[in-house]
Amino acid sequence: MTTIDADAPIGVFDSGVGGLTVLRALEAELPFEQFVYLGDTARLPYGTKSATTVERYAVQAARLLVERGIKALVVACNTASAVALDALRTAYRPLPVFGVVDPGAEAACAASATGRIAVIATESTVRGGAYQRAILARRPAARVLARPCPLLVTLAEEGWVQGEVPERVIAAYLGDWLHDHIAPDCLLLGCTHFPILGELLGHVAGPGMRLVDSAVTTASAVRIALAAAGAMRDAARVGSRYLLASDGRERFARVGRHFLGEPLVPGDVELVDL
Ligand code: DGL
Repeated sequence: MTTIDADAPIGVFDSGVGGLTVLRALEAELPFEQFVYLGDTARLPYGTKSATTVERYAVQAARLLVERGIKALVVACNTASAVALDALRTAYRPLPVFGVVDPGAEAACAASATGRIAVIATESTVRGGAYQRAILARRPAARVLARPCPLLVTLAEEGWVQGEVPERVIAAYLGDWLHDHIAPDCLLLGCTHFPILGELLGHVAGPGMRLVDSAVTTASAVRIALAAAGAMRDAARVGSRYLLASDGRERFARVGRHFLGEPLVPGDVELVDL
């Protein structure tokens, strides 16, 4: 990192509200920092789009955060982290850009005893293979299984995270892995939306499966990097949060509160044009 203004805010970017799970982890890890969060709700979902389109959207959206003087960018969106991280680093060099894929892969490799690791994510994330590569780079003998689970994104957005319907959907997605004689022992939640289905995913997957969510490991990677660069804000200061969305303040607040885990009203969100 080059010289950084420690008092500048940290930008957090996601395709929508799912990344609020990452913001929550960042705020817990760095309560004295200022955060500006942007959800590109006008162009959500990213997870079904081509890598070229996601890359273009991510670079455009991040520009708005860069113009607000951020000292670092956290790409909370797994899909954007998986396909657009290099483009973002190139476009905004020397801004430090953190993704969620490497911290997630790191945590999964640490959590798995057998090296059989299952990844659930969006279609674009799985197709791009970033998680598979990141896991194999750390643990070459690992057996990585990866599967898109798009319906889980919809269920999470609807707040439908308990009961028979989401349970059956999860069982349909994971069933063959769970009954395989060499079943995975670690399930990596490779999408911002999946942590709020964590309880049910754990229930369906059973006690032999460790669930790994990259939010906490990402937050700790950001703290370590900022500290190493002398770019951390004074820990005695009071932190803050600023929320931006490219569409639908009402929906952002209504759906986002489940991901953030606290009340949100439309007035908490500024509408921006990308
Ligand atoms: N934020 C996306 C991710 O983590 C999920 C929602 C979307 O498809 O845009 O991959």
